[in-house]
Amino acid sequence: MRGDGVVLVTGGAGFIGSNLVARLVTDPGVRQITVVDDCSTGCTALLGSDLAHVDFRLGTVLDSALLDDAVGGSDVIVHLAAVPSVPRSVADPLRSHEANATGTLYVLEAARRAGGPMVIAASSSSVYGAQPIIPKREDSRPMPLSPYAVTKLAAEAYLGAYHSCFDLPVLPLRFFNVYGPRQCAGHPYAAVVPTFLDAAMRGRPLVVHGDGSQTRDLTHVDTVCDVIMDALHRRVVSLWPVNLALGTRTSLLELIDLIGGLLGRRPDTVHVDPRPGDVPHSQADPSRLLALFPETRPKPLRAGLADTLAWHRAQQIGPEGNAALQPPAVTTALGAVR
Ligand SMILES: NC(=O)c1ccc[n+]([C@@H]2O[C@H](COP(=O)([O-])OP(=O)(O)OC[C@H]3O[C@@H](n4cnc5c(N)ncnc54)[C@H](O)[C@@H]3O)[C@@H](O)[C@H]2O)c1
Repeated sequence: MRGDGVVLVTGGAGFIGSNLVARLVTDPGVRQITVVDDCSTGCTALLGSDLAHVDFRLGTVLDSALLDDAVGGSDVIVHLAAVPSVPRSVADPLRSHEANATGTLYVLEAARRAGGPMVIAASSSSVYGAQPIIPKREDSRPMPLSPYAVTKLAAEAYLGAYHSCFDLPVLPLRFFNVYGPRQCAGHPYAAVVPTFLDAAMRGRPLVVHGDGSQTRDLTHVDTVCDVIMDALHRRVVSLWPVNLALGTRTSLLELIDLIGGLLGRRPDTVHVDPRPGDVPHSQADPSRLLALFPETRPKPLRAGLADTLAWHRAQQIGPEGNAALQPPAVTTALGAVR
């Protein structure tokens, strides 16, 4: 890794953040890891024994003094902190805007004050919204349909602006539906993979909105971490957003079949009304990703679901799972684009 190997991860106590920290901890090129997280949706339990190897700062990215102190000497900031939920942004648009859009601006300002470490930041496929083109190309017009999507569009636009105006090295990454170990079920807005796995393991029916033919570009968290690690090692910069998904298409019915195959029995399903505003298909065009990160290989879905299932099994110590790993009620709805 270029520089002194000092990395700041915002949102490092969350699902993707804690997986990334696990990778950073074992990377010989990384000397120091700082995490800033307010634990509003994440929790330090997700970091497990890695917590002992990071400088953990409990607080919000909206606190300039805390950020300045945490950014101190960083070569790279991986900015993942956000209220990561479409429905929650609908319930409280101001809070989402503050955390996601204003929070990103605070991170960029702190980076500028610190002399310009690289900023890699999480955007979202939700920015495509009503854009009908499939697969989604980064140069097609964003048509956000939720306050969350608007906050992510604002955040990635700020990254571009700071690159243009202040020469800050940036990399805005549009995540699609990320899944894998450490993604918790058991809260009202949990994502589709943990919710289905958890229900299937408990013998409960899986609730499917609509007929289940809607497709998602499911990306294993290891693939997301591979790209981020490659970006920080090779210092890959892009003024324009980059889709972080490999262009796969999995329907909810196919997902249920795969889960059934892993468990040895097909789970029962209950079909309920489609959710208003649900996007029928979400699939990335990975051309820009593969041009910048030619080594990227997707983790096959079956293998990815198997290791996710193993993690859920390890957490299931009681009828409702491991309470220590249940973050406060937040996040997404079944099958939502994230
Ligand atoms: N998981 C997905 O499928 C997906 C898809 C698209 C985009 N993203 C984006 O990826 C990033 C990580 O998402 P995740 O799935 O790991 O969610 P997560 O909820 O597990 O992680 C987000 C973390 O940010 C922290 N946080 C929230 N507000 C904060 C604030 N103001 N200051 C400091 N910390 C704060 C939370 O406590 C949490 O630990 C988010 O920016 C999210 O919008 C995720």
